Amino acid sequence: MKRTSFRPLHPLRRTRPAAGSRQSDPALPLSMKTKTRSTLAALGAFWLTVAAASAAPAAAAPALGAAQNQDPLLLRGRYLVEHVGLCADCHSPRNEKGEFVRALWLKGAALPFQPTVPMPWSPVAPPIAGLPTMNLEQAVAFLRTGKRPDGTEPRPPMPQFRFSTDDAIAVAAYLKSLGK
Ligand code: HEC
Repeated sequence: MKRTSFRPLHPLRRTRPAAGSRQSDPALPLSMKTKTRSTLAALGAFWLTVAAASAAPAAAAPALGAAQNQDPLLLRGRYLVEHVGLCADCHSPRNEKGEFVRALWLKGAALPFQPTVPMPWSPVAPPIAGLPTMNLEQAVAFLRTGKRPDGTEPRPPMPQFRFSTDDAIAVAAYLKSLGK
């Protein structure tokens, strides 16, 4: 492994060059410092985007009932649905301001975007609250393999998820619990 490629942060933090002489740090070629700076800038921009994007689902998601809130399986499922799989991005409808409609959380939506080239595509994401098209076992298989019970694959932009068995069980249990 080329260790030098991982060094920039350390010299920057540990060495204390005289004012205005940062570029004379021998451990750090100028190109690397520039790269580090632009990487950090990109990371900053990325996290701002993430923060903006994740603010909406948290506000729109219905609160779990008291009993559900005690269940670690459902809490994990909710976390995976809302913060990892981001299922609401496609499966929850938005109002005219682009905000999620709380009462229709995960109840299916027409997609607000489309491909720029011809390709297989589903313009609608069906309801997944309560998982109306699958039983628990089928849903776990679907989330683990990306294939429906009959072996067919959902059209894009539905991602072909490959959740671990434990995660698939948590997601399926949480979505089923929304149908009650
Ligand atoms: C980028 C958009 C998008 C995201 C994100 C997304 N889906 Fe989908 N999903 C779709 C679309 C579109 C379909 C319909 C596909 C079709 O009809 O071929 C679909 C279909 C489904 C189906 C129905 C399968 C069937 O035919 O019965 C389930 C269940 C599902 N998604 C679950 C999820 C879960 C759970 C997540 C998050 C972990 C998720 N989806 C994230 C777009 C998305």
